[in-house]
Amino acid sequence: MYRTHNNGALRMSDVGQEVTLSGWLQASRDFGGMTFIDLRDRYGITQLVFNMEVDADLCTKARKLGREFVLKISGIVHERSNKNPNRLTGDIEIIVNDLEILNESKTPPFTIEDETDGGDDIRMKYRYLDIRRNPVKNNLVFRSKLGIEVRKYLSDQDFVEIETPFLIKSTPEGARDFVVPSRMNKGQFYALPQSPQTFKQLLMVAGMDKYFQIVKCFRDEDLRADRQPEFTQIDCEMAFVTQEEILNTFEGLTRHLFKSTLDIELGDFPRMTYDDAMEQYGSDKPDLRFDMKFVYLNDLAQNKGFSVFDSAEVVVGINATGQAENYSNKDIKKLTEWMQRPQIGAKGLVYVKWNADGSIKSSVGKFYSDADLQAWLEKAGAKKGDMMLILSGETDKTRKQLNELRLEMGRRMGFMKKGDFKPLWVVDFPLLEWDEESNRFHAMHHPFTSPKKEEISRMLNGDHETMKSLKADAYDMVINGAEIGGGSIRIHDRELQSKNFDLLGFTKEEAEEQFGFLMGAFEYGAPPHGGLAFGFDRLSAVMNDDSSIRDYIAFPKNNQGRDVMIDAPAPVSDEQLAEWGMEMSGDLAK
Ligand code: AMO
Repeated sequence: MYRTHNNGALRMSDVGQEVTLSGWLQASRDFGGMTFIDLRDRYGITQLVFNMEVDADLCTKARKLGREFVLKISGIVHERSNKNPNRLTGDIEIIVNDLEILNESKTPPFTIEDETDGGDDIRMKYRYLDIRRNPVKNNLVFRSKLGIEVRKYLSDQDFVEIETPFLIKSTPEGARDFVVPSRMNKGQFYALPQSPQTFKQLLMVAGMDKYFQIVKCFRDEDLRADRQPEFTQIDCEMAFVTQEEILNTFEGLTRHLFKSTLDIELGDFPRMTYDDAMEQYGSDKPDLRFDMKFVYLNDLAQNKGFSVFDSAEVVVGINATGQAENYSNKDIKKLTEWMQRPQIGAKGLVYVKWNADGSIKSSVGKFYSDADLQAWLEKAGAKKGDMMLILSGETDKTRKQLNELRLEMGRRMGFMKKGDFKPLWVVDFPLLEWDEESNRFHAMHHPFTSPKKEEISRMLNGDHETMKSLKADAYDMVINGAEIGGGSIRIHDRELQSKNFDLLGFTKEEAEEQFGFLMGAFEYGAPPHGGLAFGFDRLSAVMNDDSSIRDYIAFPKNNQGRDVMIDAPAPVSDEQLAEWGMEMSGDLAK
């Protein structure tokens, strides 16, 4: 038997018991005739004691052990004289009478501590050591609990968990596909699913009514802290539902997940239209932990002789409460430079300070009277001591830039509090997005999304400009400025689906070739249906106030999409290539 208890289990009530423990050597300390070893496993740390006077051989053996050796010990539980209140087992220690080395360990390349000295690359290369550390281990345990709660809640609501295939044909969700060559069909490829979108819709045609799946999805896109090439969705679909019922169901799921894993009761779950979100926050995923709404100043600031504002499509600002005194000219200059970095690309930044003594100071003071500037401040609901920050330019660009500034000010002003969760549904997304570069429409969500019922005749009969303004029954769930999930009511009518493909630039033949199976299914009694998918990795991270999803995935890829531990992707042999009917030549072969 390797163990009678784990290393987080023993308490004062166990004093006097003979126990056997196994685990890794976390740390050891020699004090005169005594040696203390911290033995660690997933559950905690237990202190072991060896006494030279009691058993010199055993103590000498203990002194030769290195970090991360795997040990099995037996001994008696004793009360500790200097208790450690920070440890579950801090009241006791084990006086060891038997020690077996189960395995030795090389010295690990970084410390197995909560705060490690290992950089990202080395941690990823030795991920199995990284996972021994509490922060990563706890994240994986959290994720596991979250998955179990998802299954409990949804199955209580009659959802059925159904697996869909990984070897499929491309599903357009806006990213590139990963492809897999087929040996039996030489020269042909499967695509790994970007999501199970079409399959879950087919399950609705099949009458399964309520489907869910915690499922891997694959997207060959540029990586960021909140994006991985393979990630997991909580994917759901329901038949005979309105958008309202879908939002309520998944608001319920979200509340359950926060309550059952974090013991947090989420407050309001407001809804905001996409247009309002863009107008008031310059983002389709506003962080509502703080207000700082946009204030439009066109009517007050234009036609007063300041040409930069006069020629702008929008003049828009935010009010940073209590910041007038906190920003010297030098600080404003730095903030302006921050806004002018290529990542944001603002041309300049205008400020208006309403000082505590009532005086007003502004970078555009020579163009505007104090009364003009005061009118701006009042429109923004500012008080003495506040500072307005203002941008101008083309509407979409300026809003985006001001969104970045709002978030940065929110961060600096301490509004992004850990443990404060502000969820939000963003609804009424546009159906289509016009792309100037490729001169064509893209689906804002995906091509299976339904326009709002009242928009259908405009969609079938309208001109090009009309298409730009069509609204869809599409929605995103946002928590603290992160897009946690998104979904829509789907088209379930062949004709409408075919019109949508047409608008998206598919010829009849292309649409038939790629999606004939779905449109064909719509001809056999497809029920009205809709659904959504949560990003499971993102939800796990956001619930723990993390913006990076990497440490919620056991074996993630790095920013170049590589698994540096197993060293993938990697070339394959000529024999394998030949089996797929492929031959690498020239540069590719190298
Ligand atoms: P969507 O593409 O919005 O919708 O994806 C749903 C959610 O999945 C998460 N997500 C990601 N997480 C990590 N890494 C990625 N690369 C990544 N890409 C997306 C996000 C996102 O909100 N089939 C539709 C859903 C539906 O309509 O039902 C879909 O996949 O949190």
